[in-house]
Amino acid sequence: MANEGKTIACGEYRREDHNHILYTPSKRSIQWIIGDQLGSSVAIVLILEGEHIDLRPLKEEDFEDFCVWYNDEQVTRYLGMKPLSRDKAKLEFNQLLNDQNGVYFGIIKKDEGRIIGYVFLTDILESHMVAQEFGIVIGDRNLWGHGYGSEATKIVLKYGFKHLKLHRIQLKVLDFNKRAQHVYRKLGFAEEGSQREARLVDGKWHNVLLMGMLKKEFES
Ligand SMILES: CC(C)(COP(=O)(O)OP(=O)(O)OC[C@H]1O[C@@H](n2cnc3c(N)ncnc32)[C@H](O)[C@@H]1OP(=O)(O)O)[C@@H](O)C(=O)NCCC(=O)NCCS
Repeated sequence: MANEGKTIACGEYRREDHNHILYTPSKRSIQWIIGDQLGSSVAIVLILEGEHIDLRPLKEEDFEDFCVWYNDEQVTRYLGMKPLSRDKAKLEFNQLLNDQNGVYFGIIKKDEGRIIGYVFLTDILESHMVAQEFGIVIGDRNLWGHGYGSEATKIVLKYGFKHLKLHRIQLKVLDFNKRAQHVYRKLGFAEEGSQREARLVDGKWHNVLLMGMLKKEFES
């Protein structure tokens, strides 16, 4: 079996590739093993193509970057967490890689070919076609405000609604995270409520806002 991935673009599938995809919704796999005509198999890695970024499955080699992002207090405070030690980051990272109920994409800055963050849909309820948690981190904070978060969110929403055929995608965001809220509202998430004083950040209690988007809202 060849380990190397062949890439395809989601959304703009090349017809001949699309025909070969064995998609298994129950596993939410974003890597497929397909048989070729000679009887051997090839791993196809899904690449979601954007204008300035590409999304590809998060992989083990991304750990060093993940570790740096989650060790940065200016990043983790927006996630309602303290910075993680290397060991804790490893535990967290392994959980993501082994999550059978979510899809996790590394965000690749096209012009440099390097990973700058990750984005995911998880806690997917098959029976209701709902992704209970959307999340995104641009881990390199020098790159905040350059449009990458909006672009990655848009691509994942398209993937979730069109490809996974989800009916609803929801998320949680801290009340002081105005940048993230702006991005979510701009892209069509509606505020649906809040959990009062649900997180303690920098010694202060903060509300957690609940936001959601329906497939029909994404399409309109
Ligand atoms: C939130 C995050 C993903 C957004 O990604 P990003 O690449 O920085 O965002 P973008 O550049 O695409 O868009 C930022 C938008 O917020 C706006 N913005 C920035 N600061 C703002 C503020 N204080 N209040 C309101 N809007 C703000 C910008 O003007 C821009 O709006 P525009 O696209 O209409 O011009 C990224 O900043 C991040 O990873 N932050 C840390 C982790 C995090 O908060 N994750 C989300 C947890 S819910």
